Amino acid sequence: MTQDQQPDRSSLEARVEELEASLAQSNGKLSQREAEVAELRKQLEISRLVTGTLIHDLRNPLSIILTYLAFCQDILPKDEGSSDFPSKMGEYLGEVYSATNHMHDIMTHLYNLMDPKWGVMLFDTDIYNYIIKPGVSRSGLDVRYYPETLPTDQDTVYADQFIARRVFDNLLKNAADHGGDNPVITVGHRINKGRPELYVRNTGSYIAEADRRKVFNLEVRRPESEGLGLGLNLCKRYAELMGGYLRADSSGQPSDGNMQNAWAEFSLGFPLP
Ligand SMILES: Nc1ncnc2c1ncn2[C@@H]1O[C@H](COP(=O)(O)OP(=O)(O)OP(=O)(O)O)[C@@H](O)[C@H]1O
Ligand SMILES: [Mg+2]
Repeated sequence: MTQDQQPDRSSLEARVEELEASLAQSNGKLSQREAEVAELRKQLEISRLVTGTLIHDLRNPLSIILTYLAFCQDILPKDEGSSDFPSKMGEYLGEVYSATNHMHDIMTHLYNLMDPKWGVMLFDTDIYNYIIKPGVSRSGLDVRYYPETLPTDQDTVYADQFIARRVFDNLLKNAADHGGDNPVITVGHRINKGRPELYVRNTGSYIAEADRRKVFNLEVRRPESEGLGLGLNLCKRYAELMGGYLRADSSGQPSDGNMQNAWAEFSLGFPLP
């Protein structure tokens, strides 16, 4: 090696040291990332375990309750009788049966949603017959359709029926719970900016512009609400999981607490096929 090559060698050694230091740093970052990924995997596993346990351990007793409710209904006298008791009992058991059946159904759908084989299932869906009509009937609410011809319309949307039903049920319940004393509840569907939307509107409540996004946050709920403040957050996440959206609109800001012109409306936008 010549005298001239000497400085080159020491600069190469310095470069190698530099590279080794940078490699050690990258390795450090990599193991940190690996630890983070391992932690996320663990949390995902716990979530799946908790959800799986909830579904499994609730669905099984619900099946038992359904079987025994059916037995009870079988042994109840069918005729009205002199007392009101047997027929009322049948009516109440019927209500308990359909609420239990609804829970059982939800557990089955949640399980399908969790299963990578099924997941979100988008189909052409008759919006009136598969979403609006059963939802309104389950809610027991007096609901207006807009336009009035809606029940005979055969409009289809591209939707995951489980998700659309869950969102619609929640919106109807909110309209009844948060919509003033005797809210007029209107439901309908329309095309907005090229996207099919299902909307639920109620009179008697106003959501200030600044709150229209916040109502979807977990921590927001009316202080007097008996609920958890969780419904809208779940609905928005469900809507987005399906490739759709959920939006709040409102108008008729009350002055002096006069709610006469106030209304709030929530729209579920469906994905395009
Ligand atoms: N139709 C509505 N009109 C006015 N405010 C509403 C309406 N729907 C929801 N909100 C407001 O948004 C908040 C959050 O709604 P969300 O459905 O998430 O919770 P909740 O109904 O209070 O409880 P739950 O978790 O049982 O649904 C409500 O507490 C209420 O303040
Ligand atoms: Mg709610």
